[in-house]
Amino acid sequence: MKPVDTAIAWPFTEESDWINSAKGDSNHLLYARNTPAPIVTELEQRIANMEGADYGLAFSSGMAAIFATLMTLLKPGAKIVALDALYGGTFSLLHHVFPTWGVDCQLVRTPSELFKEIEQGCDIVYLETPSNPMLVEVDIAATSALAKKSNALLICDNTVATPFTQNPIKHGADIVVHSATKFLGGHMDALAGVVCCSAKHRDLIHQHRELIGSVLAPQAAQLISRGLESFELRMSRATDNAAHLAAWLNNHPNVTQVFHPSINEPTKRSTLRRSVALLSFELKNRAAVSHFLKRCDSLTLASTLGATHTLIGLPETTSHVECTVEERKALGIPEGLVRVSVGIERIEQLLARFDHALEF
Ligand SMILES: Cc1ncc(COP(=O)(O)O)c(C=O)c1O
Repeated sequence: MKPVDTAIAWPFTEESDWINSAKGDSNHLLYARNTPAPIVTELEQRIANMEGADYGLAFSSGMAAIFATLMTLLKPGAKIVALDALYGGTFSLLHHVFPTWGVDCQLVRTPSELFKEIEQGCDIVYLETPSNPMLVEVDIAATSALAKKSNALLICDNTVATPFTQNPIKHGADIVVHSATKFLGGHMDALAGVVCCSAKHRDLIHQHRELIGSVLAPQAAQLISRGLESFELRMSRATDNAAHLAAWLNNHPNVTQVFHPSINEPTKRSTLRRSVALLSFELKNRAAVSHFLKRCDSLTLASTLGATHTLIGLPETTSHVECTVEERKALGIPEGLVRVSVGIERIEQLLARFDHALEF
């Protein structure tokens, strides 16, 4: 692996070169907020290629990537439509922040309500499929066809599926956003976000990233690039493990319901090529969850997902930490829900740990 260039400004010897660089007419890098370090631009292109996009833009976190994309594309009077099955941070942006900017944010419950809203006209359609933590799947191709008829852009958050399992652009999405903090980085040691898009959107979003100052730091880019070296191997093992664990949990007497694409009612046209490494399951009540957590002595409880080892999370401490109890209830998130980010352990070892933790 190459050594990281951690510079944030690159010296000039010629005034003309300096001036041209400031105007964007030279390849000489100026200042890292405007023209990111080479390790950042290499990572951007690498993830864009994985998604089948023309360009990538790297951000300091997934939320920074989502916010910069939405603030670039949404103006007062614009309308955005989304299913409310969204990561809590994105839900809060669309429920609390953008409405105060004069944006019409329509968050609906079901795909049929979503399709109806799109047909009535809108500027942006936002999907997170499968969603965190309920693993709700929406047909990207059908959504894209309707969005195109309404001249609306389709943005997809592909954090949970990852490009290992799904490429939304191939099914008609215009822009893909990622929390690269999760499975792309894979080691729970760097925050990062990426936007994958066309040249036109890249230029617009880039301008806002420069003004907000939310570019990815080179040190974090190096950690994410290192994580990508083992991405396919990790995802292959973790997604197989998740399918096994989902089936095992589904037969467990103390588990009320399992949420995973291999168990959920499959949508007519799933765009998932294989399993995903995230699942959730429901226990009979909140007290059962506390009991389970006490017995998780060899499973890690942590507020993230996408590590090499299996992570247990609760909506109130992870995906929906920003939401109130009432909001979580309104979003249909059961109080007995446990989220599992499945790691690359041996499956026998993993099942034994869950078997122990679920002994009530
Ligand atoms: C689906 C999804 N999108 C976006 C984000 C935000 O990413 P970050 O924590 O890197 O800002 C998360 C975080 O968990 C997520 O799960």
